[in-house]
Amino acid sequence: MKRQNKNRWEDSYSRNAKKNSYPARSVYKLEEVQKKFKVIKKGDRVLDLGCYPGSWLLYAAKLTGKSGYVVGIDKQKVKIDLPENVKVYCEDIYNTLNFFGDKERFSIIISDMAPDTTGSKFTDAVRSFELSNKALDMTDGLLDRGGNFVCKIFQGEDFEEFYKKVGLSFKQKKIFKPQSSRKSSREIYVVGLGKK
Ligand SMILES: C[S@@+](CC[C@H](N)C(=O)[O-])C[C@H]1O[C@@H](n2cnc3c(N)ncnc32)[C@H](O)[C@@H]1O
Repeated sequence: MKRQNKNRWEDSYSRNAKKNSYPARSVYKLEEVQKKFKVIKKGDRVLDLGCYPGSWLLYAAKLTGKSGYVVGIDKQKVKIDLPENVKVYCEDIYNTLNFFGDKERFSIIISDMAPDTTGSKFTDAVRSFELSNKALDMTDGLLDRGGNFVCKIFQGEDFEEFYKKVGLSFKQKKIFKPQSSRKSSREIYVVGLGKK
C-alpha cells in the first residue's frame, strides 16, 4: 500500500529547507531569483520586508557576507538565531514611516510579504497589491540609485498596474515564477533592476 504523506504540503523543497536549517522552503524562491538575476552582491545592504520566519534573512546574509548586512521587518516576531550581520524589527510595514531617518540607504529591497489569505482570490490579490505597492513606495528614499528590487505579488486585476509602476522607477523590469513556487499559487515575483 502506498504510504500517505503526513503533510500534504511537504515536498522536496521543504525537506531540503529542513535539512539545510532554513525555517521555510521560500528560501529556494530567492535562491532561484538570485541565480537568474544576481540581485544581491557581497557587501550589499539588504532590506527584507515580511522576513518572518527568517529563511530569506539567512540566505541574504550569506550572500552579503560580513562586509554587508540585512535588516528585516515583519509584524511577526522572528524566533530563530540570526548571524551578527542581521537585525530584525517586529513592526507592521504600515507603521514604518520615517523608521530609518534620512541617512539609512539600502542596495536592495526584497519583499516576500503576503496578506493573511481569506479564501477569496479577489480579496487576497487586492491585499497583495497594496503590500507590494507599499514595498515599491519604500524604494523611493530608501534604495540607492542603481539598486535592485524583488517583490512578490499575487496575480490579479491590478498586476499590470503594479508592473508598469516598477518600470517607471527601474531601468529594467522582469516577471519571474520560480520552480519552487507552487503551481497552484498565484504568486509571482517582479524584479526591478537599476533604480533610476
Ligand atoms: C511568506 S512570509 C515570508 C517568508 C520569508 N521570506 C522567509 O523566507 O522566511 C510573508 C510574511 O509577510 C508578513 N507580512 C504580511 N503583512 C505584513 C505587514 N503589513 N507588515 C509586516 N509584515 C507583513 C507576514 O507576517 C509573513 O511573515
